[in-house]
Amino acid sequence: MSDAVKVGFVPFSAAPSGILVAFCDDGLKLGPATAKALGTAADLVKRAAEASQFKGKNGAVLDILAPEGVKAGRLIVIGAGTVSGLKGSDFLKFGGVAASKLQPGNGAMTILAELPGGAMSAEQVVAIASGLRLRAYKFDRYKTKKKDGEERVLRADVSLAVGDVAAAKKAFAPAGHVVDGVVIARDLVNEPPNVLYPEEFARRASQLRRLGVKVEVLDVKAMQKLGMGALLGVGQGSARPSRTVIMRWNGGRKTDAPVGFVGKGVCFDTGGISIKPAGSMEDMKGDMGGAACVVGLMHALAARKAKVNAVGAIGLVENMPDGNAQRPGDIVTSMSGQTIEIINTDAEGRLVLADVLWYVAKKVKPKFMVDLATLTGAIMVALGTEHAGMFSNNDELSERIAKAGLETGEKVWRLPLGPEYDKLIDSQFADMKNTGGRHGGSITAAQFLQRFVDETPWAHLDIAGTAMGAPKSDINQSWGSGYGVRLLDRLVADHYESK
Ligand code: BES
Ligand code: MN
Ligand code: ZN
Repeated sequence: MSDAVKVGFVPFSAAPSGILVAFCDDGLKLGPATAKALGTAADLVKRAAEASQFKGKNGAVLDILAPEGVKAGRLIVIGAGTVSGLKGSDFLKFGGVAASKLQPGNGAMTILAELPGGAMSAEQVVAIASGLRLRAYKFDRYKTKKKDGEERVLRADVSLAVGDVAAAKKAFAPAGHVVDGVVIARDLVNEPPNVLYPEEFARRASQLRRLGVKVEVLDVKAMQKLGMGALLGVGQGSARPSRTVIMRWNGGRKTDAPVGFVGKGVCFDTGGISIKPAGSMEDMKGDMGGAACVVGLMHALAARKAKVNAVGAIGLVENMPDGNAQRPGDIVTSMSGQTIEIINTDAEGRLVLADVLWYVAKKVKPKFMVDLATLTGAIMVALGTEHAGMFSNNDELSERIAKAGLETGEKVWRLPLGPEYDKLIDSQFADMKNTGGRHGGSITAAQFLQRFVDETPWAHLDIAGTAMGAPKSDINQSWGSGYGVRLLDRLVADHYESK
C-alpha cells in the first residue's frame, strides 16, 4: 500500500504553502477568496490563459511557473467549466488533476477550494480530497530499483483551503475510510498470484477483525460438509486449497436483515484443462477483483461505522490444470442440489459463485445481494471498459445501483435476463451446463447465476472490463482499479443505513 498524499483542511485566510491550485469557470472567473489570495497574480492568469488558449473548460489546466505577485513557485488553475452542471464525479476528477501535478520532492500543495460563486460545499471538498488520494495511489511494493526521476518517493502534504474547516473535516472522516477500502481492493488485485492465493487472501480478509468485523473462514472440509461441489470442483486441481470467507459487519439494528455482497475470488485462472492461451494470461491474477471489492467495501463500512448490517462472502480458489483437475464432461453437484455438467473448465467463476450465492441466500437471508465478478470476456466486447454489466431480477435494486454509478463515476449498464436464454444452458446429462455457446456469453453466465439466488432480490455486476487493466483515468493510474467499492458504499449510504 502506498498512500503518498496527506490531506488537511485550512481556512482561506491561512498562508498558502507549496504549489498553489485555484479554480475558475469557463469565463475565467475566480472566486472572491481566490482573487484575494492571488492579488496581482490574478491579472497574470488572464494573460497566461490568453497566451495558451486556456478557456477554463472542465478539467483543463493552466500551469504558471514562478508567478509574480504570490509566494508560490507554481500556480495551477483548473478549469471547472460550467459551474451549474457540476457533479460529484467532477470534483473527484479535479482532485485527480491536482494530484497529477505533484512530483516527487514537491512537498506541499495548497488548493483553494472555491468556485466563482463562493466556497465549495463540504461534499465537494471531500470529493476533491478523495480524488487526490485515489490518483496518487501507486503499487510499487516489488520494485527494488527506481528509474531515473523516481528515486524520490512522492510524499506530499496537501492543504485544502475551505470555507468551513470543521464541516470539511467531519465529512472527510468517512470518505477517507472509503478511499482506504479502494486502496485495499487495488492492492489485492495488483498482488502477484504466487503471493496472493486462497489461504493468504483469507488471512488478509481476516484482518477486518481489527475493525470489529466477524470473519468466518470455511476450509475444504467445511465446504464439503455443506455440499459446495461446484466451488470445490474448480479448486481441486490446485496445490493451494480453496477457501470461502464470510465477513459480518453489524452496525445496524439487531432486527434488520443484512445486505449481502458476494465476490468471485479466482486467485489465478489458467482456464484449467480448457487451458487459456499464453498471451496475457498473467492478467488472470486479477480474476479475484470481485472478492477484492467485497473486502474493500467491508473495510469501508466497518471503518466508517456504517449503520447497517452487511455480510460479505467471497469464494477463493485457484483454477489449475493438473492430474487431479476437473474435466470437461464431469458432473458436479452444487450446494443447492442442482447438478452441473462441466463443458469448459474455463467457465469457472459461475461455478464458484453458484455455491457462494446459494450459501448467502439460504444461510444469511439478506434483504438483497449484489455479486461482483470478473466473469466474462464477452462483457468487454459488449460494453468496453467504461461500464460494468449489470443483470438483476429486481428493478428497484438495479435502478438504485445505476444511480449510485452516476454519482460515483463507477458506472453500470443493465443487460437482459430472461427465460428464453435458459435453453442455452440446459444440459442433456445434468440440470444445466456451465457454458451457453458463443452468443450472449455474458447473459448466459448471468442466467446461470440466477438459478442460485432463488427469490432473493439480486444484482450481478460483470466487472471483467472495469476491475483491472482499464485505461488509466484522472483518479486511477493503477492496473487494479478497486472498482465497486465506492459504488456499493454509496448504494448502502443512500438507501440502507438507518438514520
Ligand atoms: N476470468 C475469465 C473472464 C475474463 C476474461 C476476465 C478476460 C477478465 C479478462 C472467465 O473465467 C473466463 O474464462 N470466461 C470465459 C467463459 C467461456 C469459457 C464461456 C470467457 O469469457 O472466455
Ligand atoms: Mn475462466
Ligand atoms: Zn475466471
